[in-house]
Amino acid sequence: MAILDWNKYLEKAAEVNAEGAVLLKNDGVLPLDKNSEISVFGRIQLDYYKSGTGSGGMVNVAKVTGIVDGLLEAGAKLNGKVLKTYRDWVAEHPYDYGEGWGGEPWCQQEMPLSDELAAEAAETSDAALCVIGRTAGEEQDNSCKAGSYLLTDAEKDMLRTVRKHFKKMAVLLNVGNIIDMGFVDEFSPDGVMYLWQGGMTGGTGAAKVLLGEVSPSGKLPDTIAFDIADYPSDKNFHDRDRNFYAEDIFVGYRYFETFAKDKVRYPFGFGLSYTDFEITAEAVGGAEGVKLTAKVKNIGSCAGKEVVQVYIEAPNGRLGKAARVLCGFEKTPLLAAGEECTLDIDIDSRSMASYDDSGAYAWVMEAGEYNIYAGSDVRSAKKVYSFTAAEDIVIEQLEQALAPVTEFERMVRTENGLAYKKVPMSKVDEKARRLQFMPEEITQSGDKGITLADVAEGRNDLDSFIAQLDDNDLNCLVRGEGMCSPKVTPGTAAAFGGVSDRLAERKVPAGCCSDGPSGMRLDVGTKAFSLPNGTLIAATFNKPLLTELFTMTGLEMRANKVDCLLGPGMNIHRHPLNGRNFEYFSEDPFLTGKMAAAELKGLHSVGVEGTIKHFCGNNQETNRHFLDSAVSERALREIYLRGFEIAVKEGGAKSIMTTYGKVNDLWTAGSIDLNTTILRHEWGFTGFTMTDWWANINDRGCKPDKDNFAAMVRAQNDVYMVCADGGKHTDNVAASLENGELRRAELQRAARNVLSFILGTHAMKRVTGSDETVEVINKPAETVDDGAAERVFTLDGGLTIDMTAVKTARNLDYSFTLDVTQLGQYRMEITASSTQSELAQMPVTVFSMGTAWGTFTWNGTGGEPVTFTIDEMPLFSRYTIFRLHFGLGGLDMRSITFTKLRSAENTGLSNS
Ligand code: BGC
Repeated sequence: MAILDWNKYLEKAAEVNAEGAVLLKNDGVLPLDKNSEISVFGRIQLDYYKSGTGSGGMVNVAKVTGIVDGLLEAGAKLNGKVLKTYRDWVAEHPYDYGEGWGGEPWCQQEMPLSDELAAEAAETSDAALCVIGRTAGEEQDNSCKAGSYLLTDAEKDMLRTVRKHFKKMAVLLNVGNIIDMGFVDEFSPDGVMYLWQGGMTGGTGAAKVLLGEVSPSGKLPDTIAFDIADYPSDKNFHDRDRNFYAEDIFVGYRYFETFAKDKVRYPFGFGLSYTDFEITAEAVGGAEGVKLTAKVKNIGSCAGKEVVQVYIEAPNGRLGKAARVLCGFEKTPLLAAGEECTLDIDIDSRSMASYDDSGAYAWVMEAGEYNIYAGSDVRSAKKVYSFTAAEDIVIEQLEQALAPVTEFERMVRTENGLAYKKVPMSKVDEKARRLQFMPEEITQSGDKGITLADVAEGRNDLDSFIAQLDDNDLNCLVRGEGMCSPKVTPGTAAAFGGVSDRLAERKVPAGCCSDGPSGMRLDVGTKAFSLPNGTLIAATFNKPLLTELFTMTGLEMRANKVDCLLGPGMNIHRHPLNGRNFEYFSEDPFLTGKMAAAELKGLHSVGVEGTIKHFCGNNQETNRHFLDSAVSERALREIYLRGFEIAVKEGGAKSIMTTYGKVNDLWTAGSIDLNTTILRHEWGFTGFTMTDWWANINDRGCKPDKDNFAAMVRAQNDVYMVCADGGKHTDNVAASLENGELRRAELQRAARNVLSFILGTHAMKRVTGSDETVEVINKPAETVDDGAAERVFTLDGGLTIDMTAVKTARNLDYSFTLDVTQLGQYRMEITASSTQSELAQMPVTVFSMGTAWGTFTWNGTGGEPVTFTIDEMPLFSRYTIFRLHFGLGGLDMRSITFTKLRSAENTGLSNS
């Protein structure tokens, strides 16, 4: 039996929190003296944002340690009057969750801070901490407004008042991604630190760095420019229909270091420490690869860690290059004052090459001088080595794929500087590509009595198993079932594989997927571990540490019978306002890929998977279901696909989720170039792919259609997420097989991809009886509040309960007791409506006597009543307690109706 010790899990996550904190300014304020009094300002000290919103943030937690909790638990002396004033005010101004999917406000109302309180606190406190918080997420981008990217007037007033009275003041940012930092000029804080959104242990980790137990070693995973308009994607980011990626490869520091150095407030990779380091490096090698050895010496006065970052400056030849590209990094172990260490960093040719999309369709190292820089951020990194490539070298010859079909001009670097040139257009015949990758059909054999367990245990091969599957079985294998399928762990996002009775009879287990990048989302209310967010994780630049954390997450998944965590999110921070940046890592694809690979390594070590998402180009939430990303093939390969490529090739990723939107005018779920040419043919991916939930699919030039599974299967996006019932669904697979638009061989290929994956899961091991269980120790017991005793309804054969007065909000429970006078089998119908968007997800879980009977997810209903039915609800206990658990607000409950189907006497199950 494997053991997951919850206390060690908490400690590991807090270590990640501490290592991800990025100190940007420190004029003698940090670390704080534990023996002196500190005043903490800002309501977010008590309402810590553990994550952003949407599927990536819906982890139910027993306890979140916020900043004040963390400081108090670490023994800090906080000004009691300030703390009490905030506690009282927050009690009267509770946290506003907003309504429904994507409806939570970006910030919370700030307490007006009086001069008197600040002045009085300053008399006894040595320093002030001011906490600013922000959220955003799925369906809701940030905006360049006060309360989102900019500070509100109330927050500015707070900073002004604190500055006026305190000699030492630090600003702490509890945010999912970078925000405008004009406040540094306006209020001159002595210290500024990004704490990001740290999950349930955020405050514990923050306290470690604030109090000096740990010296900060986090580095910026994004460039912070002076003005949002300085970001090269800003001109195109907001477009609802089509985002032209006109900045091309010049994303983040690639742009700033090449064309606009003076626009940068804090460079990529930057982050201060409480100590100082000296980095020296030497290297050997050339175009075939470079071996760099860095010596790092702690020349300051306390222990700390440093990150060595290596950047390449390739010759600015025909292709036009960014002045710096991250091509290697390592973090030191903890170095005591005076201690030094050596780090070996290998740079491969691919990391130094560029993709030529103008006809060669190859990764190329152009002739000329290659300079290598090493240091602790992109700007200060020093030249440590150079070599010359005498001629152009083709590193990898590919074929054109996924190129634009809409003309636009992209940014290029010519010998005279920045210019715009027409983007090369697609010449690919996608129909021919389909035929190029057409597999052989396996002759259907009829039932031979082979089960998947026979394949798992080596008695038969997979193709013999697949040969037995009829077209309907094959069709079921491309249908994911959810949300909250009863075939897998209650409250999870999807079941896949054994979703029909026939497949289950053949011992195909149902695999289980659960959101998301920051921990398991279990909509029945089950508590799970809430992890630090993606931006924070990237800021650690610490691969082994991540692997350790995600090994624990993997064990937690196993304890909950979850096979795929729907994360990490790997899209690029193309623009600071993307709502889901908190789920993603960085503006840099190399860092993104390496961090994802480190997470996967941890998950894989205990036999579970991380579904890397969203493949690819999911860089804006506004209108994400219909938005087209018009991107050059070069930018796709160098920026938007590169992280995924590293996660597949180095991280061994075996599960991928495509996106809601389009890339170069084709919905990604139907894109053969993306899912087959690039992913499988070029990268050698052998896992399975799934759509995003209820995603659109199309054939080139055709309208989006959620039932066009044939287009999905042809492209080799294997599974549609999600169908209400995997055993029956109105997709077009059967008709397309019939009319020849889909070949059985393609459907069998999808089946093979799904089943090969399932064969490696713990779900399969449970079927063969070879699974090792996981025991979770030291996890606090869960408690559920209910009002069942007060609300008793008599059920005398039939009953309708008026639910219109019931309040629904995130994580609320509503309980009642049924006094069942006629025991038996009942039908239960739950009716609700919602004016939320069609794609909002409002889950309600029904528990009867503590057992979950199902989770029903309402989408927006246009205000019309929609009913979900539990066909067979056994009521064999005189007093039956029901509990409804609401995952989110925005739902208007209408009624619950019970109708008797059979009496207890007729069921043979009577206990009366
Ligand atoms: C999100 C995915 C998520 C899925 C399941 C979608 O809305 O885009 O990232 O995994 O829902 O909750």
